Amino acid sequence: MSEAIERPASGAPPWEYASAPESTDIVRLDDRYGLFIGGEFVEPKSGRWFPTISPSTEETLAEVAEADAADIARAVDAARDAAPAWQHLAPAERAKFVFRIARQLQERAREFAVLETMNGGKPIREARDIDIPLAAAHFFYYAGWADKLEYAFPGRGTPTPVGVAGQIIPWNFPLLMAAWKVAPALAAGNTVVLKPAETTPLTALLLASVVQEAELPPGVVNIVTGAGETGAALVGAAVDKIAFTGSTEVGKAIRRATAGSGKRLTLELGGKAANIVFEDAPLDQAVEGVVNGIFFNQGHVCCAGSRLLVQEPVFDVVLDKLKERLQTLRVGDPLDKNTDIGAINSKAQLDKISELVESGVDEGAEIYQPECVLPERGFWFRPTLFTGVSQSHRIAREEIFGPVLSILTFRTPEEAIEKANNTPYGLSAGIWTEKGSRILHMAERLRAGVVWANTFNRFDPTSPFGGYKESGFGREGGLHGLEPYLSFDGGAQR
Ligand code: NAI
Ligand code: MG
Repeated sequence: MSEAIERPASGAPPWEYASAPESTDIVRLDDRYGLFIGGEFVEPKSGRWFPTISPSTEETLAEVAEADAADIARAVDAARDAAPAWQHLAPAERAKFVFRIARQLQERAREFAVLETMNGGKPIREARDIDIPLAAAHFFYYAGWADKLEYAFPGRGTPTPVGVAGQIIPWNFPLLMAAWKVAPALAAGNTVVLKPAETTPLTALLLASVVQEAELPPGVVNIVTGAGETGAALVGAAVDKIAFTGSTEVGKAIRRATAGSGKRLTLELGGKAANIVFEDAPLDQAVEGVVNGIFFNQGHVCCAGSRLLVQEPVFDVVLDKLKERLQTLRVGDPLDKNTDIGAINSKAQLDKISELVESGVDEGAEIYQPECVLPERGFWFRPTLFTGVSQSHRIAREEIFGPVLSILTFRTPEEAIEKANNTPYGLSAGIWTEKGSRILHMAERLRAGVVWANTFNRFDPTSPFGGYKESGFGREGGLHGLEPYLSFDGGAQR
């Protein structure tokens, strides 16, 4: 297989592109950002600030406020004060505000995309083509529901908002996760306090300026920055609901902290998805899907296809094709439009990936990494494949959240189902086969919230997303994503 393409001896790809860097001129950064509370940026009562950096250059981009419990209480008060008027606004008027946010995101899309890439390290191609358009699409989609809530849940009685939502999001899709949380909450008539992740606060703070431009009533959206302690303070504050996306470990802590408090809770946690390739699959297409499934966003994806299950008769050919494809992936400057794999989001995440990869080697799996030159500064990890992986290896069980694929094999569909479901997680899965009946047979038996067939990592605002088991509970997206933000007076409560 690998003789098919002639390569230079170095192992470099058979072709080269000139670099095509995206200009950063459009981004105007302040030196410091306060907390966005009650419609304006305010100094933190804590008096504390922390730097936010670019993971591809390690340069400081700005300082942001670190909110403490008093700051959080102030933000929750602002959200509480704004709630009655927002809730009782004519639904079509509320919709207009949400539409305005969507349109502003579209108009300022390039600025958002460049800033997302600078602060988070993801390739500009992804920020530009996926993160930002999808974030705008979520606001458009949920704006459309704002005046149709009674039609959305027929027979359930009058839908009313739950009140003030505390929302805690991770660093892998900073603006998109903000959109997943804020758009349905606002459409349903709630007010929010959003806490972005400590490594990627800047697009959330730019969203705050969009909220100002859209002239939302002050206090409807509040954005408070900080790390885990700030998040824990928000969980403990006088909010009516917590929505969290992040690690299973923190999700468990939040569940314990909210138990018995009457606060509603949804959790979107980790994953260890199986991507299953049958011998009859269109193999070139499957290999593209496998690559997209694990190397999209450096593998910092909760639904990443991080366990590849290949049917034995096609194992050799799939492995050859994968290795060949890996050599063409371009790792480096995320602002370069040709880059496929950008920077790892933080030093801490790089250390976690490195440690797990070492465990794979120590436990006896065989590693493959293409040769590629990594930049000197910043946080980087080569795309990595492991073969000879057994189900007990840590790299087959734990979420690595990096560009690392563990490959296992199977003989029968039953064996594939057993291996795919042999995980504490249950967020997503992929099936590659030409046979429609097999897709249905497998999808019914895979214990995963999302099952993709002959594709992977497809997202759409109309489609619900969420997990089973340690991947959490509750759904985001679609009608399902509105429900956690509503109470019903005439029907069954959830
Ligand atoms: P994390 O769960 O600690 O962070 C996610 C968010 O929760 C951040 O905003 C953080 O400030 C906040 N947070 C942290 N501790 C908190 C607490 N005690 N109470 C309330 N909020 C808190 O995730 P971390 O440490 O950044 O990443 C560790 C691992 O978690 C990753 O390697 C990955 O495996 C997984 N992860 C999964 C994500 C997903 O999309 N499901 C997203 C991010 C991380
Ligand atoms: Mg953490």
